[in-house]
Amino acid sequence: MKKIAVVVGGGQTLGAFLCEGLAQAGYHVVVADLNGENAQKIAQRIQANTKSQAIGWQVDAGDEKSVERLVQEVDEQFGRTDLLVYSAGTAKAAPITDFKLEDFNLSVKVNLTGYFLCAKHFSRLMIREKIKGRIIQINSKSGKVGSKHNSGYSAAKFGGVGLTQSLALDLADNGITVHSLMLGNLLKSPMFQSLIPQYAQKLGIAESEVEQTYIDKVPLKRGCDYQDVLDVLLFYASEKASYCTGQSINITGGQVMF
Ligand SMILES: NC(=O)c1ccc[n+]([C@@H]2O[C@H](COP(=O)([O-])OP(=O)(O)OC[C@H]3O[C@@H](n4cnc5c(N)ncnc54)[C@H](O)[C@@H]3O)[C@@H](O)[C@H]2O)c1
Repeated sequence: MKKIAVVVGGGQTLGAFLCEGLAQAGYHVVVADLNGENAQKIAQRIQANTKSQAIGWQVDAGDEKSVERLVQEVDEQFGRTDLLVYSAGTAKAAPITDFKLEDFNLSVKVNLTGYFLCAKHFSRLMIREKIKGRIIQINSKSGKVGSKHNSGYSAAKFGGVGLTQSLALDLADNGITVHSLMLGNLLKSPMFQSLIPQYAQKLGIAESEVEQTYIDKVPLKRGCDYQDVLDVLLFYASEKASYCTGQSINITGGQVMF
């Protein structure tokens, strides 16, 4: 029987790449996203190009009722979940003196509360079906090291590490393992590109110099690729990683080493 993967935040960019990679690796995939149209589009592409089934579903991960409806849909369609990937995220940059409370709250809601709600409800389904499942959060190096002008994002991502460790303890008796993947900068992503003007201002350099400045900070001298994330995700989702749980795994080209 094929395994079922649910990717929250799967409608675009990294999340969409992970959905397609998981389908190619043999999972049936539930693409869940705040943007339901994008989720449907990715699901249709998977159905057309792979042997896997896929469904697209609109969800607001920060709303418990919406998450419950998603879990109910997955239960009705597939009756199980083997892997939950929480990739939803948002970032707005500003110095702390100008940081809007609403932006801080949104960051906590999308990056942290949504992860909590999805882990809570999908782990119930895994436990009911006695599945030694996997929960993997897409985090960031900003979840281990503070990030200038990024207080909301960094605070929420740090919270994700504590949540991952706590979930790992709560779910160990059920054989469910939980990890955070701590990514370096995905330089080509809309999220990074949208922050370039603020980064240029913060560093006092031209916008055209921002990407190279970020590459220069990485010992392996390149940005993080979507494929780097998929490769590590597939390993931690597999049986080969069954003795690992509660880890925050760096995918940073050596930029973070603890
Ligand atoms: N882009 C980077 O440089 C970078 C670096 C490190 C970590 N990350 C992390 O990788 C993940 C993916 O980033 P990305 O660059 O692909 O971002 P993105 O903004 O392109 O995609 C995020 C997705 O999350 C969805 N989303 C937002 N709020 C949601 C909600 N309430 N419920 C459900 N879905 C919601 C969006 O609709 C979008 O499809 C995020 O967790 C991000 O923090 C990104």
